[in-house]
Amino acid sequence: MNVNGKAYRSIWLASDGWSVEVIDQTRLPHEFVAARLTSLEEAAEAIRTMVVRGAPLIGATAAYGLCLALREDPSDDSLRAAAGRLIDTRPTAVNLTWAVRRVQDAVMPLPEGQRIEAAYECAAEICDEDVRTNQAIGRHGLTLLRDHWEHRRQHDRLNILTHCNAGWLATVDWGTALAPVYLAHDHGMPVHVWVDETRPRNQGASLTAWELLQHGISHTVIVDNAGGHLMQRNLVDCCLVGTDRTTAAGDVCNKIGTYLKALAARDNNVPFYVALPGSTIDWSIGKGTAGIEIEQRDVAEVTGIAGLTARGEVERIQLGPAASPAANYAFDITPAHLVTSFITERGICPAGREGLASLYPEHAGVDVGEAR
Ligand code: MRU
Repeated sequence: MNVNGKAYRSIWLASDGWSVEVIDQTRLPHEFVAARLTSLEEAAEAIRTMVVRGAPLIGATAAYGLCLALREDPSDDSLRAAAGRLIDTRPTAVNLTWAVRRVQDAVMPLPEGQRIEAAYECAAEICDEDVRTNQAIGRHGLTLLRDHWEHRRQHDRLNILTHCNAGWLATVDWGTALAPVYLAHDHGMPVHVWVDETRPRNQGASLTAWELLQHGISHTVIVDNAGGHLMQRNLVDCCLVGTDRTTAAGDVCNKIGTYLKALAARDNNVPFYVALPGSTIDWSIGKGTAGIEIEQRDVAEVTGIAGLTARGEVERIQLGPAASPAANYAFDITPAHLVTSFITERGICPAGREGLASLYPEHAGVDVGEAR
């Protein structure tokens, strides 16, 4: 997507042909700067500290992290250790493991001398595939938005509520939940996005808002608790969010607060759509969601907040009493029955086991049992 008129992806190979550059998302929206990753350790830390974030992008970064690790040491032992280091950085999004395993499987059978080149090829393939996948999600999602616009809209603009950031910054390009929104806008539909600020890290207020602004899409940032009120007032035509991990039964693990939006949507008959690439489906979790580890992050993200001061400097401040204990659950799970439909790269399906199985029949026969 474009930033100040120039096309960017969120991750790319540097001009030296081997190191990796990413947009430093911890600096947005106040500064647009790239960070250069030159080692396994730097790639792992970029994922852990959320310089890069969003399920598809952390998968792509981890794939390049393995390339950097292989440059340091292409042996089996090093590859296994690097894979473990990368997978441990963030536990919830399944794309991380998916991407790491894909590179591992591609290079492990090869002699050590051929591994680096093969890993880079595989990482590039993962990135290009992500872009194609998101464009396809965009095209399928556009049909839904068009239907809302032509038959079900409530005002002179189509009001879409989104949570967190599932835009191009969360992927390699286009985004998942925002891909249909970008396409709708480009097709002349007057879309307007309600952007949940998404405490504690404010991915909505700082990343989604910035993305939409760059693309000239009408939007309004709201506090996380405003969505229910807006739905009661018929000011939301549909909700559209991403996912970090979806079980084979269709339960959706996404940024904390997604579940409450889905509950409010159900109570107000507002369709709740989840955009997902096949890589975020965890086919090993069939029934029950206990197999999903919910990341708990540093409580400093809850007790403090960063922002731009009047002096033009970014500063962190303490919000409440320093002595009060806090908790920082990063994700929650929305049960499939609260989701209206999935928008995937293969089409749209009802949220649930049968729907997913109809679009991904190669996984439908797998006995996933009760993962508890
Ligand atoms: O903690 P984050 O910012 O990595 O969480 C990201 C999300 O929850 C997104 O909604 C999800 O990864 C889908 S992005 C296409």
